[in-house]
Order: sequence, then C-alpha cells, then structure tokens
Amino acid sequence: MIKSDTLPVMLMDDNMKLHWKLHFEEFPNEKLLKAFDNPIKSYLNTKSGNILDIGSGQSLYLLDMLESQFNLFAVDIEKSQLDYLKERVKQAGFDESRITYSTEYFPSPNFDNYIFQAIIISDLLHFFKKSDAHAFVTQIKKYCIAGTLIIGKVHSTNHFVSQEEITPDSYFKSFYDKDDILAMFPESEFKLLSFIQEDSEFTLEITEFIKYWIHEVLKEDHTTHQIKLIEKDYLEDSRENFIKFVVMKK
Ligand SMILES: C[S@@+](CC[C@H](N)C(=O)[O-])C[C@H]1O[C@@H](n2cnc3c(N)ncnc32)[C@H](O)[C@@H]1O
Repeated sequence: MIKSDTLPVMLMDDNMKLHWKLHFEEFPNEKLLKAFDNPIKSYLNTKSGNILDIGSGQSLYLLDMLESQFNLFAVDIEKSQLDYLKERVKQAGFDESRITYSTEYFPSPNFDNYIFQAIIISDLLHFFKKSDAHAFVTQIKKYCIAGTLIIGKVHSTNHFVSQEEITPDSYFKSFYDKDDILAMFPESEFKLLSFIQEDSEFTLEITEFIKYWIHEVLKEDHTTHQIKLIEKDYLEDSRENFIKFVVMKK
C-alpha cells in the first residue's frame, strides 16, 4: 500500500477483517446479486469504457458488470478484500484478471491517464473528516468527463453513532445529509440523478450475521452470557441509516 501524504488512511482492525471474511463466507455472489439494483445499468448511456470502484471491498458493482464490455478496476488498500473479490470473480466463472486490482491509496498518480465512465465510492467517505471527503471528491473529478456517473453510499446524519462526539480516533468521522451531497457535487458541475435516504431496522438475515460476527470476535475470552449481553446492546442501538446517491458530471 502506498500512503497518501495529503489524505487520511483508514486501516481495518482485526475485527473488521473478520467481518469481511465472514461476509465472504456467508453471502455467495448469487445471493448478493439477486437483491442488487445496479444504478450503472440504469443510468449509464454507454456500453463500454472504464469503471472504477474506490475502496471496492468485494465490489458487488463490479461483480454485476463482469459480463459487460467495460474495463473494470478495483482499488482497495486492504489486500485481503481484493483477494476475496478475486475469489468471487472466479466463482462467477471468470478469470480473476477480468478486473484490474490495485492496493494503492486512491487518488493515485498511477491512474492519472485514465478517464472513467463510472466511479463508485460506496461506504467510504464517512471514514474521512468532512473536509477530507470534500478534498477527496475534488481529486476524483479529474478522472471524469461529461456523462461520468459517480455512485456513492454514505452514513446519514441519522446514523446511530452520529450523536457521539467525533474525535481523531473515531471510527466514523463524518455523517451526511442532502446539503452535504449537493455541496460536494454542486449543481453547476453535476446532475443529481438519484438520492435515496434509508432509515430502517436490520433485516433478520443481517441481524443473524451481526450476531455471528460478534460471537466469533468474542468467543475466545467471553462467556456465552457476556456475548449475549454485548450482542443485545449492539443490536438495540444499531440501524441502517444511509444515503445512496448517483450524480452525473455535466
Ligand atoms: C467499509 S469498506 C466498503 C467496501 C465496499 N465499497 C462496500 O460498499 O461494501 C471501505 C473500504 O475502503 C478501503 N479504503 C479506504 N480508504 C481508501 C482509499 N483512499 N483508497 C482505496 N481504498 C480505501 C478500505 O480498505 C475498505 O475495504
């Protein structure tokens, strides 16, 4: 991983690494893709070019585009995430080289000659301070041309931990409302194609997954009773509070 001098780096702790390992094991491609509504397919008016997922994790967006004509790029500073993505690509019946992978911190000069038709920033900006998120968005504009889609998902200001004081050590460093999205993607430069704010309880499936994850994190040094209490505490407070948006560069 190459570290940026100007933007912060969000490194995963062991608990989050375990979370994504279990996610890989518990949620096969077919299950995830069945429930996935891909805005690239709905809004992009070209059938070829480059698509980039920044902080891709096990990118559902790219997995859903494997059969397309697009060149696909996944960037994630966490190598294990890209290894899971490679495995998912193979499980979908493709050679892992169908996607170009990079563990570089983005924005990276290695991409300076690229223009992308779609850029995905899903579950990424809330790990940055708001001013850093703005700087990040400013930097990715250089990879856009008229018609480029930017697809994002961020924690909303309704998020269950948004009331806590944000310190440099906080896991989530910013929360967003519609004005924040419009400030980062001003109407003078971008057309807002879709804006969805969701505030919902976890589904039963996600609840079961979170219980399983908590159990696996704590099982070595906690009793079953202690684990149940921590689980209850965590789930009592937790909700899905996010914003999904799609903007198009003018
Ligand atoms: C919460 S995960 C989101 C994964 C996926 N995009 C999703 O929506 O499920 C955030 C990912 O961003 C990666 N990441 C954070 N900052 C990054 C940066 N500047 N460049 C590349 N990857 C980054 C982390 O390693 C992590 O895998």
